Amino acid sequence: MPRDEAKSSKSPTTSAKSNRRQFLDTTTATVAGAALAGVAATKAGAQEKADVPKVFAGGSDAIRLALIGCGGRGGGAAVDALSVQGAPLKLVAMADVFKERADIVRRSIGEQFEGKFDVPDERVFVGFDAYKEAIDYLKPGDIAIFATPVAFRAPHFAYAIEKGVHTFMEKPVSIDGPSTKRIIELAKKADEKNLKVGVGLMCRHCDRRQELYDRLQNGEAGELMDFRGYRMHTPAQSPELFPGPPEGVSEILWQIRRFHGFLWASGGIYSDYYVHHIDEVCWMKGAWPVTAEATGGRHVKGKMDDQNFDSYAVEYTFPDGTKFFYSGRHIKNCDQKFGVFGRGTKGAFTISASGHSPARCAIYKGQAEDKDKLLWTAEQPEPNPYRREWEHLVDAIINDKPYNEAVRGAEASLATAMGRIAAHTGKLVTYDGLLNGDYDLTAGVADFKADSPAPVRLLADYTYPVPTPGKFKYEYND
Ligand SMILES: NC(=O)c1ccc[n+]([C@@H]2O[C@H](COP(=O)([O-])OP(=O)(O)OC[C@H]3O[C@@H](n4cnc5c(N)ncnc54)[C@H](O)[C@@H]3O)[C@@H](O)[C@H]2O)c1
Repeated sequence: MPRDEAKSSKSPTTSAKSNRRQFLDTTTATVAGAALAGVAATKAGAQEKADVPKVFAGGSDAIRLALIGCGGRGGGAAVDALSVQGAPLKLVAMADVFKERADIVRRSIGEQFEGKFDVPDERVFVGFDAYKEAIDYLKPGDIAIFATPVAFRAPHFAYAIEKGVHTFMEKPVSIDGPSTKRIIELAKKADEKNLKVGVGLMCRHCDRRQELYDRLQNGEAGELMDFRGYRMHTPAQSPELFPGPPEGVSEILWQIRRFHGFLWASGGIYSDYYVHHIDEVCWMKGAWPVTAEATGGRHVKGKMDDQNFDSYAVEYTFPDGTKFFYSGRHIKNCDQKFGVFGRGTKGAFTISASGHSPARCAIYKGQAEDKDKLLWTAEQPEPNPYRREWEHLVDAIINDKPYNEAVRGAEASLATAMGRIAAHTGKLVTYDGLLNGDYDLTAGVADFKADSPAPVRLLADYTYPVPTPGKFKYEYND
């Protein structure tokens, strides 16, 4: 049952916890030695089992990285990777559809990581096929980092698997049923080749949330009754940007640059922003939702036009009837709120209080979330989950441990898409119905070129088609 995958404490992320701790607690010098021992063990294992391919770049002292999608998070992920202590990681190739984006990240990482950075001009690849050139430069057992908008996740992942390269891919990994199925199918192929796959749902790698999960499992909050979450802040982009591409930029590249505004590219702000919160709750609950019902609307748009609502109110229902209420709002001059919470029969609890990190998890005695009613609160400071997810992935690669977060990432992405589509259509969305449906926003992206027609066309009145509940079969079309 895919819904059971939400119980990630049984996932590869934590199943090898003690080994990992051993790896991470050791001094840098010893860890480097252990890493090399890991290579030898992998090679020996591969010799014994002819069908298990080598997963570490044998003959080389470095695991080489290619960064595909060199924006804010791509740069951050590369920094997190290169910061893993005692691991022989080196960034050797970069790819983006905009050269200037790659240049910014290249300059900044080159300055910070001398000795772990070797990306000359000829290894900065530009264009829609740049990911292939960057991955072609890697050897089997190296790592490709995918931090483009989600639309490109499946074709990029497929190519990495074909080339025998491990993957770290940013969330979300899918935005509808068919894209979710593609990732799940590819995950099986990655397993067949013994490739490791990390997904950037870093909250799953948060030590304090893990402790909260264990405490909830031990019944400290009683039986879990309901959950709620909020992401309410000012819009990420200025509402005064006029729609449509500026002179000299193709419509398709414009939509990619402003991917949060276009459902085909990102699943909109709902899929791109809310997936962490939805995944955190599903983890604590130990299940994926079976249905989502939602409302939402567009109230304040300025001159900017995109395909998002600026308010969402969603009710998810889990298989046992437990509810999860999620609210999103992106309007200026309103109260801001960011976090996920729950209530058990014995007391309320905080999964994350005001940001992704630190989580500041807590359990209360009773339902009032008062500081003087605390049963437990997470120790501070907290390890950085963006670093921890890389430590876990690299440990799995070096020590050849089972590690594939792609299916769980796809299921979390599907659960997220349920809420978005329910709000945009005004119809109840089921997990199975969406997964097995034919609504495919990213069909054909693998063949995109800089002058391809954009998946969404600017209308004659200089607006983009907008989801309208009750009007369309899908979000903004039939
Ligand atoms: N885990 C987190 O907390 C977190 C935080 C921020 C972003 N993200 C995720 O990271 C991804 C990127 O977000 P961002 O904020 O860095 O956006 P960004 O716009 O800053 O970066 C995306 C980059 O990808 C490039 N790109 C787009 N399509 C491409 C293609 N087909 N081939 C090569 N390059 C391409 C863009 O030109 C851009 O440089 C998104 O999926 C987002 O959800 C995750």
